[in-house]
Amino acid sequence: MNLIKCLTRELLFSKRTVLFSIFTGATVMLAQAQTNAPVPVLQIKADQVTTKVSPVLYGLMTEEINYSYEGGLYGELIRNRAFKANATNAVFWNLIGNGAISLDPTAPLNDALNTSLKLDATQAAKNAPAGIANGGYWGIPVKPKSSYQVSFYAKAAGGFSGPLTVSIESADGKKVFARAEISGLTGDWKKYDVTLKIKNVKPSKDNVFKITTVSPGTIWFQNVSLFPPTFANRANGNRPDIMQLLADMHPKFLRLPGGNYLEGDYINERFDWKKTIGDVSQRPGHRSPWNYWSTDGFGLMEYLGWCEDLKMEPLLAVFAGYALRHDYIKPGPDLEPYVQDALDEIEYVTGDAATTKWGAQRAKDGHPAPFPLHYVEVGNEDWFDRSGSYDGRFTQFFNAIKAKYPSLQIIATADVKSSVPDLLDEHYYKSQEEMESQSHLYDTRERGGPTKVFVGEWATRVGRPTPNMAGALGDAAWMCCMERNSDLVLLESYAPLFVNVSDLARGGSMQWPSDLIGYDALTSYGSPSYYAQVMFSTHHGDNVLATDSQNIPTYEWKVPTRRRNGADQPASTRQVPALFFDATRDSASGVIYLKVVNRQSTPQPVAIDISGVAAIAAKGHATVMKAGKPDDTNSLQDPKHIIPVSEKAKGLGKNFTRIFPPYSITILELKTK
Ligand code: AHR
Repeated sequence: MNLIKCLTRELLFSKRTVLFSIFTGATVMLAQAQTNAPVPVLQIKADQVTTKVSPVLYGLMTEEINYSYEGGLYGELIRNRAFKANATNAVFWNLIGNGAISLDPTAPLNDALNTSLKLDATQAAKNAPAGIANGGYWGIPVKPKSSYQVSFYAKAAGGFSGPLTVSIESADGKKVFARAEISGLTGDWKKYDVTLKIKNVKPSKDNVFKITTVSPGTIWFQNVSLFPPTFANRANGNRPDIMQLLADMHPKFLRLPGGNYLEGDYINERFDWKKTIGDVSQRPGHRSPWNYWSTDGFGLMEYLGWCEDLKMEPLLAVFAGYALRHDYIKPGPDLEPYVQDALDEIEYVTGDAATTKWGAQRAKDGHPAPFPLHYVEVGNEDWFDRSGSYDGRFTQFFNAIKAKYPSLQIIATADVKSSVPDLLDEHYYKSQEEMESQSHLYDTRERGGPTKVFVGEWATRVGRPTPNMAGALGDAAWMCCMERNSDLVLLESYAPLFVNVSDLARGGSMQWPSDLIGYDALTSYGSPSYYAQVMFSTHHGDNVLATDSQNIPTYEWKVPTRRRNGADQPASTRQVPALFFDATRDSASGVIYLKVVNRQSTPQPVAIDISGVAAIAAKGHATVMKAGKPDDTNSLQDPKHIIPVSEKAKGLGKNFTRIFPPYSITILELKTK
């Protein structure tokens, strides 16, 4: 043991705060400590690879919740564009001027959009226009120097031919940002398109979209749409700012379309993929289990386009015959149509455009090339199914999918006995203490079985609407565990991904607090948990290295007597680790990535020993995210309060001591020689 090691290891700190020096190679660092504890030691055995890092470990999970697509990622700015959000009222639409607006089911556009908005403009005039207005999803964003595409279907009674004026205006009516005219209306439904060009104005969101007339008439509208510029200019595409946040995560897969959203409250409210493809005006839409209407403008093809834009693979969850209110289909002949639907869906994603029915449909929908697909999940959280039917339902899907697509990996959502799933989807929504106390869960999980793990939903739920630093620390502890065990845990995805933070009151824009990315109509931000994800997914090698440790500090956790399911348990305490780590190495460059998470309120010196390499360069790189207190967080107003910072690391070597700041996540990049 060299001198530095001796000094650092044997240092025991007095109970009162002392200033002490730690020698780290050429550097002398000063730090304060207030503990009697010996210095923790981490050993990294650089020549002992325990397993490969799963190349697809870090992914995304998504569903329509918290206004994730409508009012979120999906570019559409008009709320209730198809007038189906409420069966009796034209919710989110207002009358301008004199007249009346109402839903008119006797004037449907087609079988899918089987109602329309009727405007009776009884007294319109130049100085008193009449019309309809929509305030979007908590505002219509206006961004400088941008073009917005307006489209809608309309028809008029009694020879009224227009013109109609479309405009984006401030909600107080003082500013008109852009305006255009549409004429030529007839008694038959016809689609109208126009571009609104915004000049170099200040960004704002307290705006409305209007369609008005200065002459009296009766006009019907359907599928009224306003699209801003989209990521990669994709038609019917996504918001660029949110897409960029996701792109920075370098996700490998997207678990779609849920979550509860896959299942629906009732079977007829499931994600019925065939009704979500093709022309948006032919998509009927459906009520989501998160209690709001989905137009399904963001349908299966839009999910796949999202995957393509971010170079990630879909992980396709297929509806498995169970809905959230315990509605289920018995395995056997009754389930067959649903199994066929799943096979058709896989064919739509992967089938050859020339030789398969659904591959040809995909080509017709604008994408001749098949999408890559390796993982299919059967259902979602089927442990909720009290009928006990999942075993039979899963096996029926499993057998049919494997028979046609033997190379697909099939994921079960609950334990089954009558077949052997390739993966099991495990979900963990936890407090920080719970997450940290299970930070070695997979270290001791039995190996060798054929079924691997997909942690398809998880989050440290601290902070609302988005997690704070305490959440990020719990997440990082958990990610160390998953990465270290990625022979077993092949895939992981945090959930939920998105929240519209515009209206956090009950029944507003958030149904589930603690979500990775927040936004309103205009801007977006990543939570500390988001940045922890970015750090982990973009800083790792391909090999997991063997590690060992001594003197890991712990804290005492009083386990809550009330459990999440409402049941009580006896009072107890648990010693929980306060420091977490894992090490991976890039086989091409030799770089070792050491991740260390310090959840404590004090700086933590740690002695690091690296064996199995000739030398470690004295200079390396560190990425550090830290906070002054655990509830520090990011928001729309302060989007980058807590972010990772890159810095040079000095004084590195085969043995060195580094002080890890309070409430911090650090990734050290160590160059091996
Ligand atoms: O992520 C929110 C919900 O949590 C998902 O829809 C569901 O699968 C889980 O219960």
